[in-house]
Amino acid sequence: MTPSEQFKQEGAAEIAAQGGDEQLAAATREWMNRANARKYSYHFEWMGRPIIQYPQDIVAMQELIWQVQPELIIETGIAHGGSLVFSASMLELNAACGGPPDARVLGIDIDIRTHNRAAIEAHPMSRRISMIEGSSLAREVIEQARAAAAGKSNVLVCLDSNHTHAHALGELEAYAPLTSVGSYCVVFDTIVEDLPEALSFERPWGPGDNPKTAARRYLEDHPEFEIDHRVDAKILIGVAPHGYLRRVR
Ligand SMILES: C[S@@+](CC[C@H](N)C(=O)[O-])C[C@H]1O[C@@H](n2cnc3c(N)ncnc32)[C@H](O)[C@@H]1O
Repeated sequence: MTPSEQFKQEGAAEIAAQGGDEQLAAATREWMNRANARKYSYHFEWMGRPIIQYPQDIVAMQELIWQVQPELIIETGIAHGGSLVFSASMLELNAACGGPPDARVLGIDIDIRTHNRAAIEAHPMSRRISMIEGSSLAREVIEQARAAAAGKSNVLVCLDSNHTHAHALGELEAYAPLTSVGSYCVVFDTIVEDLPEALSFERPWGPGDNPKTAARRYLEDHPEFEIDHRVDAKILIGVAPHGYLRRVR
C-alpha cells in the first residue's frame, strides 16, 4: 500500500468512527439549531455571489465535482446565483486540469430576479452557465433539462428549490433519472426534518413535509440510488443529511 492509500484508508476509518460518535452528533444538533436560528447559511459568498449553503456542503460538493468530472450540472433553485457560480468555477478548474473542456451548469428558478440575473450574466463564470426561468416541475422546463442532458456524460443533479415534500418528490421524479451512474443527485435542505418546527420560519415546509421525507419516499421505489452516508459522516454539519444520493446502477 502506498503512503497515500494508507492515509486514505485511515481517514475512511476515522470518518466512519466520527459518524458513529453519539456525543458529537448531539453537539452537532445543538450547534445546528442555534446556527440555523441565526440564518447562518445566508452569510457566505462564492466569487462575489451570495451562496445559501453551509461551507461543509460546499466542500463536499467540490469533492464530488472533482470525483465525478461532470459534463453537465443541473441545479434547481438559483436565488442569488452563488451555487451556480460555485459549480461553474469547479467545472472551470476541472477543465484546467484536463477534465471536460465544455462542461456547463444549467440553473432553473421560478423567479430569477432582474438584479440577480444581471449579476450572474456579468460574472466571469457565466460562460459556463445557462438559466431557465420557470417552475422546475413545469413540463416544458423538464423537457429543456432532458434535452440539455441528452448525450452528456457524468450528469450531476442538485435539487434546492421549493422544499415541500410534494415539490421535492416531483423534482426527484423529474430530474434524478438524468443523473449518470456513479454520479449524484443531491437533495438539499433535508435538514428541515431534523430541526425544530419553529426553525422553518413559517415556510410551507417543516418536519414531516420536506426534502428528506421526499427522498425517503423516492428511495423506496428507486434502488438505483443509495444514500452516501460517508458524506454525512465526514462533514457532520450540513443541510443535506441523507441527501447525497449516489446512483449505483
Ligand atoms: C434556497 S434558494 C436556492 C439557493 C441556491 N441554490 C444557493 O445555493 O445559493 C431556493 C430558490 O428556489 C426557487 N424556487 C421556489 N420554488 C420554485 C419552483 N417551483 N421551481 C423552481 N425554483 C423555485 C426560489 O425562487 C429560490 O430562488
